Amino acid sequence: MIGIFDSGAGGLSVYREIVKLLPHQSYVYFSDNAHCPYGEKSQEYIIDRARAITDHLIAEGCSVVVVACNTATAAAIATLRSEYDIPFIGMEPAVKPAALGTKSGVIGVLATAGTLRASKYLDTKERFTDGIKVVEHVGQGFVELVEAGELEGKHTEEVVRASVEPLLSEGADVIVLGCTHYPFLRPVIQEICGPAVNVIDPAPAAARHLVDVMKEKGLPTESEGGFSIQLEASGSDATLRKIHSLL
Ligand code: DGL
Repeated sequence: MIGIFDSGAGGLSVYREIVKLLPHQSYVYFSDNAHCPYGEKSQEYIIDRARAITDHLIAEGCSVVVVACNTATAAAIATLRSEYDIPFIGMEPAVKPAALGTKSGVIGVLATAGTLRASKYLDTKERFTDGIKVVEHVGQGFVELVEAGELEGKHTEEVVRASVEPLLSEGADVIVLGCTHYPFLRPVIQEICGPAVNVIDPAPAAARHLVDVMKEKGLPTESEGGFSIQLEASGSDATLRKIHSLL
């Protein structure tokens, strides 16, 4: 059984890609929405939440955990790996493919404040963006929109535009979605950017990595009982169920 968690429903954008590759697995998805957003929380706080959720997922029978949250990956995955005996798959900021794909020499990164200040992101940027200009912006209000289930409409467009336009005005022709909530706003983001801008969702790469790790560790990629998904939340599960029904 595969455990997946995020501060909210955002990690379903990762689950959506995983289930394409592993359609006969059983899954537990945990939304920590009673503690959402993680973006501005301290590292200690996020580590405590990640431990509590991991204990819960292991008790449910999960043998691998996907930290389907860039902020929690940056804050807690090293600690989780050092304390538990199961594999953890995290989210990588897709800065490398963006740097390889840009023609203008400018890439935009949308992420939470926690991700943008984390050493994991800063190290990746340092390694792969030599000679490339990187423009960053917090997707201000994006997580709240997704958690409210407001994936389209005039208000959503206005909120998204305020964080995307600064990247476009700097000349970004590739934009990395560095938070797992943001892919649910991708249609709106792409509409604002226009077709010439490549918007990268790192979820497919994370899903491929999970499959590789499971094979390497000899973990079964199919469950005996076939496909199942259990949706759990620390707060109300209404948005989780709504977004899951849209996948
Ligand atoms: N989905 C999240 C991420 O990938 C967390 C957003 C938040 O809770 O601030 O960073």
